[in-house]
Amino acid sequence: MKLKSYSRLLLIACVVMCIAPSCVKEGPAGKDGATGAAGANGTNGVDANETCKMCHNPTSVDLIATQFQFSKHEYGEAAFSESGNTGCSPCHAQEAFKYVVAHNTPVTFSPDPTKPGFFKNDYATDASASVGRIGCSTCHSSIHTTYTSTDLPKLTTVAPVPMTMWAGAKTIDLKADGGISNLCVKCHQPRPQTNLQTGNVQDYVGVAANPTVLAYDSDNDKAKTNIVRPSYRMHVHYGAIGAVYAGMGGVEFAGSEAYTNSAHTSVASCQACHMGADGGKSPMVGRAGGHSFNAVGNFTTCNAAGCHASPIDAKNPNFWVNPRTDIQQLLMDLAAKLSVGGVEIMNRNSTSTNLWVGITKNNYDGYLNVYDPVNNPGFAAENPSGTFQNPAPSGSWTADQKALNLTFPKLSLTNAQYGACLNFQLCLRDYSLGIHNYKYTRALLKNTIAILK
Ligand code: HEC
Ligand code: HEC
Ligand code: HEC
Ligand code: HEC
Ligand code: HEC
Repeated sequence: MKLKSYSRLLLIACVVMCIAPSCVKEGPAGKDGATGAAGANGTNGVDANETCKMCHNPTSVDLIATQFQFSKHEYGEAAFSESGNTGCSPCHAQEAFKYVVAHNTPVTFSPDPTKPGFFKNDYATDASASVGRIGCSTCHSSIHTTYTSTDLPKLTTVAPVPMTMWAGAKTIDLKADGGISNLCVKCHQPRPQTNLQTGNVQDYVGVAANPTVLAYDSDNDKAKTNIVRPSYRMHVHYGAIGAVYAGMGGVEFAGSEAYTNSAHTSVASCQACHMGADGGKSPMVGRAGGHSFNAVGNFTTCNAAGCHASPIDAKNPNFWVNPRTDIQQLLMDLAAKLSVGGVEIMNRNSTSTNLWVGITKNNYDGYLNVYDPVNNPGFAAENPSGTFQNPAPSGSWTADQKALNLTFPKLSLTNAQYGACLNFQLCLRDYSLGIHNYKYTRALLKNTIAILK
């Protein structure tokens, strides 16, 4: 039969089958027939478990997931508290981080349509994507894409990181180990200080170049020359490390010390010290190493192949004790110089709510010692030298709180003092007391102390 007539036949058959039943009147359904005999067993399929087991086994994903329980990425509370906030979640919530990476969201500032003459920060996620705990797929882009071993450890991003604190004018690119550190630095970087008059990013170069000019005049709160208003929370946020590590986050006052970087900046990656050389599968040392991302007390990474040839431990003078003692002393010296009329500008807090408790002997936390009814209520115990007046009392304060505030001395800030506060925060909140980047940390602290006279 020719193909043409064959298909015609098929068509006719089809039409008949489709039309015929509608012409026939249907009778009642008959009884079910008896159950047939069981069929033969089918041939065995490919074992789906095999590919799953490449990852889901006690030495890979299972082990790493357990290590991850010791990472603040998992047990920290910030993902919950900052989810829903489109400006905070790019560094705090999984879907938001993935969103800003996928959309290459710029860190620029642009004119704020709701506030003429003012700028707004463009680094934000979409409202629907501002959720999620930091987890495996925050950093690993391809889990369960092909269900094969190539899905791990592919990273979400290792691209150079335009810094949000400079509105993108400077970019961090840490090249060691294939740029892995750039993944960390996209979140572990300072947030912008904004100019009081414009809402745009602060001009750090201008601050550094004019140390004696007033950044804030407490006798003239409305002065157009005020670039900042001191408050308890006037700070660079918490992710200081990326900037210190790269040697580019400070208010760089001119001085006798050159701004250079230690070897770590170019030869080591965050992973090398915080996870271990073998990509985070290494056994943990106490509560550190592997996917705990924790470096505290773990010296095995310093002594890994290709790093320090003579073993380093917690007693090593040149590579641990001395540099850390040095930076700790410089932080104390800087805090001592940052005082006005005998009252210290940097806040002390010896409770566990201070994430940097124990880093300096006075337990500074990097906040400003400015009156705040909740965080710095102005009682002598923590800040024995006194407390500064808050220049912008909130409408929600009680009459007593407002009255108490007025009993405290006012705080003006020169550019030198303002920059010194930021540099103090950066170096304190780096946690490592110079281990990340000793040369840069030291230069920043020494030149800042000198500029304060
Ligand atoms: C390339 C590695 C890899 C392969 C292959 C893989 N998985 Fe996973 N799987 C993961 C990771 C990583 C997680 C997240 C683990 C965690 O959060 O603790 C995960 C989580 C899961 C979860 C928990 C889901 C959830 O949301 O909590 C299930 C179920 C799962 N995998 C099943 C499978 C199955 C079934 C296969 C095989 C068809 C498979 N996986 C293959 C890496 C893999
Ligand atoms: C999506 C953003 C993001 C990425 C990417 C990221 N981190 Fe974090 N990291 C955070 C946040 C946020 C916290 C604090 C979480 C909290 O407190 O709830 C944190 C906490 C940490 C801590 C614990 C700090 C402490 O105070 O105990 C370490 C160590 C750390 N990260 C290292 C790394 C390293 C190393 C990398 C890269 C391999 C990295 N992080 C990648 C956002 C990120
Ligand atoms: C550019 C990235 C980034 C942005 C944006 C950001 N954070 Fe963070 N934040 C971090 C990192 C990184 C840490 C953890 C630093 C560490 O522990 O070393 C952190 C820590 C915190 C912590 C301390 C958590 C703890 O361990 O107790 C709080 C609270 C917090 N952020 C709130 C906010 C809020 C509120 C916003 C928005 C107004 C915000 N963050 C925006 C990066 C960011
Ligand atoms: C903060 C970012 C981050 C998070 C969160 C994270 N990882 Fe990783 N992971 C890394 C980095 C960085 C590496 C090293 C990549 C490399 O060496 O190329 C890595 C490596 C790995 C490897 C490869 C190890 C090896 O030796 O080949 C596996 C498997 C892995 N991660 C699984 C997980 C699982 C499972 C989770 C969640 C429980 C997780 N990761 C969470 C950053 C992260
Ligand atoms: C040369 C080793 C080394 C490198 C490289 C390194 N760190 Fe650290 N990091 C440390 C040490 C040491 C500490 C302080 C541990 C202590 O207090 O005992 C620390 C502390 C931290 C902390 C505070 C929480 C904690 O675990 O103590 C964070 C967060 C952090 N580093 C993030 C990073 C990031 C992000 C990078 C990459 C930009 C990085 N580190 C690179 C050694 C390193």
